[in-house]
Amino acid sequence: MGNTQKKAMITGITGQDGGYLAKFLLSKGYRVIGLFRRGATDTFEKLKEHGIFEQIEMVGFELMEFSNICRLMKAYKPDEFYNLAAQSFVAASWEEPIYTLQADATGVANILEAIREFSPKTKFYQASTSEMFGKVQAIPQNETTPFYPRSPYGCAKLYAHWLTVNYRESFGIFACSGILFNHESPMRGKEFVTRKITDHFAKLHCGLTNKPLELGNLNAKRDWGFAGDYVEGMWMMLQQDHPDTYVLSSEETHPIRDFVTIAGKYAGFDITWEGEGSQEIGVDKNSNKVVVKVNPKFFRPAEVDILLGDSSKAHSRLNWKRKVSYEQLCEMMVKTDIERYKKLR
Ligand code: GDD
Repeated sequence: MGNTQKKAMITGITGQDGGYLAKFLLSKGYRVIGLFRRGATDTFEKLKEHGIFEQIEMVGFELMEFSNICRLMKAYKPDEFYNLAAQSFVAASWEEPIYTLQADATGVANILEAIREFSPKTKFYQASTSEMFGKVQAIPQNETTPFYPRSPYGCAKLYAHWLTVNYRESFGIFACSGILFNHESPMRGKEFVTRKITDHFAKLHCGLTNKPLELGNLNAKRDWGFAGDYVEGMWMMLQQDHPDTYVLSSEETHPIRDFVTIAGKYAGFDITWEGEGSQEIGVDKNSNKVVVKVNPKFFRPAEVDILLGDSSKAHSRLNWKRKVSYEQLCEMMVKTDIERYKKLR
């Protein structure tokens, strides 16, 4: 009896997308091999919260160690390989540009070389990003919009994107690049702005802090969707007849300030905005307290002012559609954070 169970390998298994993707693939009957950094400070908490930790084969791995990737590729020859590992926090990439380059660019070259040498039939998914559009050259952005990255992170990801395209064209590897716009969830790391906001409001709601939330640029606009919807799009890309590049986005854009106002609403605050720039504050009308203020320490050396994706290619070719709306996403994140703090009490 032949074994027809498909094998998927996922780097970045401990991150937000790793958890949602693993859950989705397990529900489709895949054998999931999760690659994690042995020395990482990351924990397996997200996988445990999803209730799937026991079902994943966890394998220690180092993206910077070419020999390690080669051995794994040889041993497993996975049907599908999802590269979700990265130094993914844009702000940190100015502090750690070289590490970011190694993890987000060289790491991808390592994987593609290992696939080319030892498992050329493996289908490869590269987690590309709307950060590559940076100082946007058109609104909205789609697969043909020129890139203009604005951070060391964006620059490194751009190399990885083109290398993915190049290995597809040079060696016939089934290599897909998913240009994903911001995608969030209750599993999002607290360094990213949406979760920083929902976590802080949950604490305020539960009386665990009385400090205002401190943020940077409130004017930047982002196209936010739900991570759970986006991982399905990753899988869909690898099920097509031919490898390609696809944009996944919500096709709506909102300023950070707007997300704060809505998150505040779901946590019981009625926020009005006063002042401008670094003097701007958010005041809760019910209590007359300042619940948000600007701290310039969170401003970035170069900003991506607006992201707005056009996913018509993914809609028509993949039949991909996001299911969770912007408001539903915000509500889900605030409510989950409040529940988490209530459980701790
Ligand atoms: N993190 C953070 N913290 N961002 C803030 C803050 C703050 O206190 N205040 C304002 N912002 C603004 C940032 O300046 C940025 O314009 C926006 O909020 C979003 O920041 P992040 O949530 O950190 O995400 P990002 O857009 O920089 O990057 C995310 O999305 C990319 C896709 O476009 C990350 O997930 C990347 O890995 C991903 O590639």
